[in-house]
Amino acid sequence: MGDIAVVLLAAGQGTRMRSDLPKVLHKVAGRSLVAHVLEAAAAVDPIALLIVVGYGAAQVREALGPALRYVEQTQQLGTGHAVLQASRLVGAAEQVLVLYGDTPLLRGETLKRLVQSHAASGAVLTMLTGVTEEPSGYGRVVRGREGELIAVVEDADADETIRGIKEVNSGVCCFEARWMWSRLAEVKPSHKGEYYLTDLVGVAVSEGARVGTLTVPEFAEVAGINNRAQLAAAEIALRWRVRSRLMDSGVSLLDPATTYVDSEVEIGRDTVLYPQTLIEGSTRIGCGCVIGPNCRLTNAQVGDGCRIESSVVEDSCLADGVRVGPFAHLRHGSAVGNGAQIGSFAEIKNSILGSGTKMHHFSYVGDAQVGERVNIAAGSITCNYDAESDTKSQTVLEDDVALGSGTLLVAPVRLHARSVTGAGAVVTRDVPADSVAVGVPARVVRHTRAKK
Ligand code: UD1
Ligand code: CA
Repeated sequence: MGDIAVVLLAAGQGTRMRSDLPKVLHKVAGRSLVAHVLEAAAAVDPIALLIVVGYGAAQVREALGPALRYVEQTQQLGTGHAVLQASRLVGAAEQVLVLYGDTPLLRGETLKRLVQSHAASGAVLTMLTGVTEEPSGYGRVVRGREGELIAVVEDADADETIRGIKEVNSGVCCFEARWMWSRLAEVKPSHKGEYYLTDLVGVAVSEGARVGTLTVPEFAEVAGINNRAQLAAAEIALRWRVRSRLMDSGVSLLDPATTYVDSEVEIGRDTVLYPQTLIEGSTRIGCGCVIGPNCRLTNAQVGDGCRIESSVVEDSCLADGVRVGPFAHLRHGSAVGNGAQIGSFAEIKNSILGSGTKMHHFSYVGDAQVGERVNIAAGSITCNYDAESDTKSQTVLEDDVALGSGTLLVAPVRLHARSVTGAGAVVTRDVPADSVAVGVPARVVRHTRAKK
């Protein structure tokens, strides 16, 4: 197998989406359409990969990041024109694999098979096709008596007979590079002024060159997304693919249909997901956890043996054996140590809680550093925000601090190790170690250990 370059088309607006967002940035299973295609493309190990951008080019580049290579198609004059934009940049690869940015269900394995079949047959092009009961909108694959590929006719140009054909072009096609570049420059625009990449099939056939096809067994894999209904269908298909992957790898889903896991999420074995649970973004969950029902985890890192129920966890990190919920909210930048417990109506933001710390009922900790085995009693909160100066301040609770119910910690403030507050204390000044502070504002009333 020779070297292969990938040209990924992502310049179209996607008019039929009726959206301000470029089509390829619409998401399925938590990831943009084009990012799914990129993942599949990696399977063929390309020596070069170029993304053709145009409509919303800056947005697409920004979404995919600067590590990839882009070429701009300033006017969207069709798929043939789009591929041509990459000609000077693609380098000397022997084969060019063209992919469309709107086919998120495409599998890397299939691309590998296509490239292998192309290399083995010596064809100038090998097209990936699929068979569907609803071919409307796709280019139809026209075959001759022997089943040989004759042409691809676009939906807009098809007559009644051709519209009846159920085999369609997936958009994925592998080309012999030199042949493609020379012929592509010759393609004439359609009556609508578009340069169709698919015209190359007719060109090859008229030259008597060898052309090949590979047909996917399951059409869904090559479905292109042109409108919101197709987007929703792809969402369902991809979600099921993720659920199957999880179950195959030893994760239990009590009700798969109501468990939504994004495609990049990783979950360890013997973890159980209860119904109505969303697990999103870059979330990683360890082994033996029980998550749900009714949870939403976004970009969360969860260790082993955690229990999270009816709670929201965003951009936060839980160590092992942590219990969260029911009805807790961990906001961005929270880190919770081994065996800690976060209970009903507790909210944490941008704070670290040490191992064995307990925080239950109606409490709020923001911009705080909380040590180990701290007890945050009912209704205790950090008053971390000063409206007058519009600033947030830090609270530090050292190891083994115990707050009485309804303690207000007016930041910046530090409670030293083993200090205790009385119910309703309003702590405005630091509290020394081994002491008890009570009242409004809180004052130290006694020390619990003889001072050394
Ligand atoms: C295309 C194919 C059709 C195939 C179908 C499969 C052509 C002419 N038609 O039709 O045979 O059955 O895909 O889904 O190729 N793009 C650009 N620049 C352009 C135009 C399009 O980059 O000037 C990109 C789009 O961003 C998209 C892809 O090419 O990712 C396909 O374009 P789209 O308009 O969706 O083509 P279809 O009409 O679906
Ligand atoms: Ca399409």
